[in-house]
Amino acid sequence: MKSVTVLASGRGSNFQAIIDAVSTGELRVECAGLITDNPEAYAIERARAARIPVSIVDYHRYPGKGEYEKALREAMEATAADLYVLAGYMRILGTGIVRHFPGRIINIHPALLPSFPGLHAQSQAIGYGAKVAGCTVHFVNEEMDAGPIIVQECVRVLEDDTEETLAERILEREHKCLPRAIQMFCDGRLRIEGRRVRITGSG
Ligand code: GRF
Repeated sequence: MKSVTVLASGRGSNFQAIIDAVSTGELRVECAGLITDNPEAYAIERARAARIPVSIVDYHRYPGKGEYEKALREAMEATAADLYVLAGYMRILGTGIVRHFPGRIINIHPALLPSFPGLHAQSQAIGYGAKVAGCTVHFVNEEMDAGPIIVQECVRVLEDDTEETLAERILEREHKCLPRAIQMFCDGRLRIEGRRVRITGSG
């Protein structure tokens, strides 16, 4: 069975969706570890409850980005995962790490990329006046929120949506999309061809 390590900085509801999908058998992978840059992350409680090893690489304990990234890379390597999943990991991964795990890191973003990359994607969508919003699971490359797209799902933006209500509806989709993308990766169904991700076979 393939193994997956999750990187998360906060609440960890996407991480929980992975844990739950593994426990129902919907997702057939082993969760090798949680890595977080934030010692206060609620994701840590979720990992402990599910008996998943936790590695805390606290950004503030390193003199600079270089040292932090070295420690992060070592923590990633230590879990020896087939796939690394950024699920609410709030830092930009350095190019050294991205190059070290080519085609083996994916991210979930709460917008229909390439629209609204970066922070507060849901309020960017509302502020722009978009009528549909959604989420994207994509491979991580050296640019932020710009790698080849694996899965996208859309939700309608309602007249009275706030950032919170829209984020909540998008999150429900995220919790479905992310385990699905992980399973496709682990089944060897994703082939990157330039900017496109070809999905082969059937699940
Ligand atoms: C999600 O909206 C995800 O798309 C974004 O950060 C948020 C993390 O939420 N990258 P959670 O920590 O998984 O609950």
